[in-house]
Amino acid sequence: MPLCSLLFVAACGDKVDDQPLIPYAPVNLSINITNQAYTALRYDNGAVTLPVKGPAGDGGVKGVIVVRQSAGTYLAFERNCPYRPYDACALVSLDRNSRLFMRDSCCNSQFDLRGQVTGGPAPRPLKQYSTSLQGTLLNITN
Ligand code: FES
Repeated sequence: MPLCSLLFVAACGDKVDDQPLIPYAPVNLSINITNQAYTALRYDNGAVTLPVKGPAGDGGVKGVIVVRQSAGTYLAFERNCPYRPYDACALVSLDRNSRLFMRDSCCNSQFDLRGQVTGGPAPRPLKQYSTSLQGTLLNITN
């Protein structure tokens, strides 16, 4: 196959499996959920955003959004958008007004608070990290 055909195939694949995966970056966060900075985690569906580098530790590629599902269950999501993760703008944020879903303002993909796609071009859910709660200490790792 001529080189140009190979390039065409590589550039134009649009199946889910052909989409670039979010790169690996260390996630090693530890927060005390009773801390004043995390009051949003005191109620169900409350969410906080943790930076890539901060006092809580390493936060993945573009930071992590933590969502409280219930008093004992917390979900943690990579903020890097799964649609075009290498684009500079590929950043998922909690919707400022409703705080009931997450959105990438670049591609306008939307995700519910469980990380599932509810709109836009994203081909897969948000990348999820592991959480474990020990007392009031929430650890997030990959
Ligand atoms: S990524 Fe610019 S892409 Fe959601």
